[in-house]
Amino acid sequence: MTISLTINGDPLEYSGDPRRTLLSVLRNDLRLTGAKEVCGEGFCGACTVHVDGAPKVACLIPMGTLSGRSITTIEGLGAPDMLNAVQQAFVDHDVVQCGMCFPGMVLSMSHFLAETPHPTRDEIKRAMTGNLCRCTGYERIVDALASIAPAQEALS
Ligand code: FES
Ligand code: FES
Repeated sequence: MTISLTINGDPLEYSGDPRRTLLSVLRNDLRLTGAKEVCGEGFCGACTVHVDGAPKVACLIPMGTLSGRSITTIEGLGAPDMLNAVQQAFVDHDVVQCGMCFPGMVLSMSHFLAETPHPTRDEIKRAMTGNLCRCTGYERIVDALASIAPAQEALS
């Protein structure tokens, strides 16, 4: 069985084991290593990607379920010279430490801010619960997200 999907806009015809996870294919076959494998059990959010625009943990998604789906990874979200708003806010606030959590965090928070353009700090904190960070203590991440223009407007 061949599964047709797109990864960052590029078509992929996958005919391997349908039980393999999307995360395994991204990292090992396509060398898209932005999505990290940390817990491997759906708890930490480090492997978050967008599936048809919504954040999902790639370590729990079998390839066999992805026919016709559109996947976006961190590699497809921005570019070094054209960061998206969340990436730029994290850079501006010097938030990133080890970096393991950040690709997933960026994908989750980009979706959240698109859906909730005027969040309160509490809403930002609730939205972050699926993405664990062992380094920052979270407050600087919240500060960075709150600094993004629409959020700033709502928080002022
Ligand atoms: S590696 Fe997928 S949720 Fe932790
Ligand atoms: S920066 Fe290290 S886990 Fe978040």
